[in-house]
Amino acid sequence: MFKTVEWRGDAVRLIEQGKLPMDEEYTEFTTYEQVASAIKRMVVRGAPAIGVTAAMGAALAAKNIETSNRDAFFREFETALKTLESTRPTAVNLFWAIQRMRDCAMENSDLPLESLKDKLVAEAVAVYEEDLVINKTMGENGASLLDDGDTVLTHCNAGALATAGGYGTALGVIKAAHLEGKKISVFADETRPWLQGARLTAWELMKEGIPVTLISDNMAGHCMKTGKITKIVVGADRIAANGDTANKIGTYTLAVLAKRHNIPFYVTAPLSTIDFELESGDLIPIEERDTAEVTHIMGVHQIAPDGVGVFNPAFDVTPNDLISGVITERGVAYPPLPQSMKKLKDSG
Ligand code: MRU
Repeated sequence: MFKTVEWRGDAVRLIEQGKLPMDEEYTEFTTYEQVASAIKRMVVRGAPAIGVTAAMGAALAAKNIETSNRDAFFREFETALKTLESTRPTAVNLFWAIQRMRDCAMENSDLPLESLKDKLVAEAVAVYEEDLVINKTMGENGASLLDDGDTVLTHCNAGALATAGGYGTALGVIKAAHLEGKKISVFADETRPWLQGARLTAWELMKEGIPVTLISDNMAGHCMKTGKITKIVVGADRIAANGDTANKIGTYTLAVLAKRHNIPFYVTAPLSTIDFELESGDLIPIEERDTAEVTHIMGVHQIAPDGVGVFNPAFDVTPNDLISGVITERGVAYPPLPQSMKKLKDSG
């Protein structure tokens, strides 16, 4: 089985997601600057995976700081945290994981620096290990929403590659239902422009032995209208307190179509993806990425004229009234989402 992200003691090892599915290659990153660059370039992507990798990048930064002066250590550590935070603006798990590392440093600020570094490494490994457990629990919580014979449409990649590994989020629900013995098949949107669906979701599901059919994004409406899709399950990059959900560009279109065709539309995400500080989805920052992602296929094959104007938002926001439920590690939140999500948060 592949490993999305791994702590190697003096490096963070990542599977090169930009090279999948043709090549299964791993690279070790030995400085926090390299880790930050890997997150930005989407060597690793997917909200929980970004969070876990950033926590490990912070641990790496702490380990590599050479000073014995406490103030200088904290200054350098904060610079590293800020650099890691500046990589991708939408996935809130990034800021959640970095804040957890910051809090850990503050709570242990009296320790000798070598012991503090050990604490920070242990915290990053805990973020990783907790994510594995959370994903499995989310999968089990969501599996009961899928029926034997369902065909589930999913968008982008919300599998092991988008998390610490193992189950993933949206694909975790599908995997858990499959493991329960239900006959589940999947339609995967190719997910232009970066093709997470075609390259990653199709690859992951085929490895799991779950039947998957690849469609291009503009085929989703036709597939819903002709009865090919019975449920939709997607992940999330940030959910506002009212349930509005930012996820890969194209998700909103699917939610509108799902409403039109009476197809249940579920979001799967750990509580760390819910930003209770943000009142509504209008406040979620939307990342805009390089125009070459649209004018070229995988940055190599040009498909548009030189100099054409391009708009490349990486995410969109689905309003809460289009969402049938949010599947979390503490159970499923049903509408009205603001109340039910808060209840799940307070139940911990
Ligand atoms: O740009 P990406 O590939 O990082 O976007 C990923 C997504 O939109 C996923 O659906 C989301 O992070 C949920 S993953 C568990």
